[in-house]
Amino acid sequence: MKAIYNERYGPLEALRLQDLERPTIGATDVLVRVRAAGLHIGDCFAVRGAPWGMRVATGLLKPKNGVPGFDVAGVVETVGSGVTRFKLGNEVFGACEGSCAEFAAVSQDTLALKPANLSFEEAAALPTSALAALHGLRDAAKVQPGQKVLINGASGGIGTFAVQIAKSMGAHVTGVCGTTNIDLVRSLGADDVIDYAQEDFTLRGPVYDVILDNIENRSLSDIRRALTPKGTLLCNSGTGATGPAMLIRLAKPIVISPFVGHNLRRYLSTPKHDDLVVLKDLVESGKVRPLIDRTFPLSETVAALQYIDQGHARGKVVVAV
Ligand SMILES: NC(=O)c1ccc[n+]([C@@H]2O[C@H](COP(=O)([O-])OP(=O)(O)OC[C@H]3O[C@@H](n4cnc5c(N)ncnc54)[C@H](OP(=O)(O)O)[C@@H]3O)[C@@H](O)[C@H]2O)c1
Repeated sequence: MKAIYNERYGPLEALRLQDLERPTIGATDVLVRVRAAGLHIGDCFAVRGAPWGMRVATGLLKPKNGVPGFDVAGVVETVGSGVTRFKLGNEVFGACEGSCAEFAAVSQDTLALKPANLSFEEAAALPTSALAALHGLRDAAKVQPGQKVLINGASGGIGTFAVQIAKSMGAHVTGVCGTTNIDLVRSLGADDVIDYAQEDFTLRGPVYDVILDNIENRSLSDIRRALTPKGTLLCNSGTGATGPAMLIRLAKPIVISPFVGHNLRRYLSTPKHDDLVVLKDLVESGKVRPLIDRTFPLSETVAALQYIDQGHARGKVVVAV
């Protein structure tokens, strides 16, 4: 099969389109004929093997799977002997390792039937980013109807889903984005939009019950000014620092939280079949729609990753296979 591959960690530019063996599947896995792969910044980290923490999941010294791509949409080609949820020909979407290829092995536990009203490209845009938004808002922050929720980085991969999911939960949603993305964030359903080039949202006073911060470009004390007295801050970036500075940055909200009135959180979103079904229902009921910025052919996966790496994607970047 054709696949984008590098046997070792390295720069994005070292990835090559190559002929590889099809992945083998275990008893509870599904072999998916890939139609589209969704990308996000974690793919750039996994290709480089940096930040180092990423290697706990992707392999310590060299990548376990040198093919990038954690998000997939496609058609079931073969199923393992223990697979109960899927059969040949099902159109599916989910999370795996190595979706920038013609075939990917996917556990049935991280796969679901594709929303009927989405293309493969749109479905591949969902898994990691929409689940991160869902897990942050529903599970970590436990957003309630009527609460005021602010999404910092509302125009990005997670932010565009977070605005829509928070609205679907009955929240009053404020999105923070750049000037060129104001109309876009409003079109996603945000009740209020703040242009970060014009206004500092942390100066609005203690008005937000929940802040999902996808950017983390402000100090904790600055951002806490915008939280209600018992408000929740979801710190969701962790990037932008290296070495010990990164560890301090990751740990700081968790260490401080017990000593302040605010709930300062980090959370890790992991893919599950049941939550992919929740996303499918949200999409099919018209409450959530993936927003695709750019679609690249498989042979241009490096350009797709470089584009994400610049940090200015509007919604999602997808590779069509
Ligand atoms: N908790 C988890 O389990 C989990 C899972 C996945 C990812 N993450 C993390 O979540 C973070 C966000 O990921 P993502 O995929 O949403 O990123 P992304 O798509 O790369 O975000 C890009 C967006 O951020 C906006 N932006 C840049 N600077 C901004 C600023 N100062 N204020 C407001 N918006 C700004 C950009 O808009 P402009 O072009 O207008 O600047 C662009 O639309 C990443 O750090 C990622 O590692 C966490």
